[in-house]
Amino acid sequence: MRFAEVEELPNVIQPNFNHVFYDSFEGKGKWHQHFGNDNPVVIELGCGKGEYTVGLARMYPGKNFVGVDIKGARIWRGAKTAFHEGLKNVVFVRTRIEFVHAIFNSHEVSEIWLTFPDPQLKKRRTKKRLTSSNFLINYQKILKPSGFIHLKTDNTELYHYTKKVIELNKLYVEIDTDHLYNSEYVDEILNIQTFYEKRFLAEGMPIHYLKFQLPTNSNILEPPNDEE
Ligand SMILES: C[S@@+](CC[C@H](N)C(=O)[O-])C[C@H]1O[C@@H](n2cnc3c(N)ncnc32)[C@H](O)[C@@H]1O
Repeated sequence: MRFAEVEELPNVIQPNFNHVFYDSFEGKGKWHQHFGNDNPVVIELGCGKGEYTVGLARMYPGKNFVGVDIKGARIWRGAKTAFHEGLKNVVFVRTRIEFVHAIFNSHEVSEIWLTFPDPQLKKRRTKKRLTSSNFLINYQKILKPSGFIHLKTDNTELYHYTKKVIELNKLYVEIDTDHLYNSEYVDEILNIQTFYEKRFLAEGMPIHYLKFQLPTNSNILEPPNDEE
């Protein structure tokens, strides 16, 4: 039973709904205490089986990694691998991404990875896209100034939508490629492949990648919704 097992893994935290809803989660602001060091905290949102969380943790023992997803059975896979490999710099949090501001304190996060998020293409679902202004405003509350957001996606609409958000808000972009594996940018980090990514690659789909920053003080605006 994966659900029961996930509760027993010491590297999985399942915050109480009321605690995140009312912003009273006791771990907020205490991640350095939790990991027992002052190393940077990198998070993967919608981590699924946590390939980035675990892959990066193996490469960077000097950083801490937190994978966030609502599905316990998926988290279980990554948490079990990390546990068996003795990776002390990995934790998974089972909660909704909408609550990240209740999980992490201001400036507690150094980098955010968005790996193959559901594209939420229907017009009425725009606010659910993980790169909508709605979510970026939430990330702004937890990300260090000059911290990077990484988006890896197979979805061309989500990629172009994100570029619109970036352009409208004049966000700094360090890397923008619509075909990562044909580009000069691919390295051992970008070569980590998630469960979904492998599926899309097998179907011959190009992978899009954006690495960008958020403004520290200004408002983040949403582009007009002109899709139908
Ligand atoms: C398409 S899957 C990608 C999983 C993984 N990153 C990968 O590339 O294999 C999207 C993941 O986001 C999670 N997810 C979607 N919306 C979420 C939300 N609002 N809060 C938490 N997790 C969410 C889903 O449970 C799912 O595991």
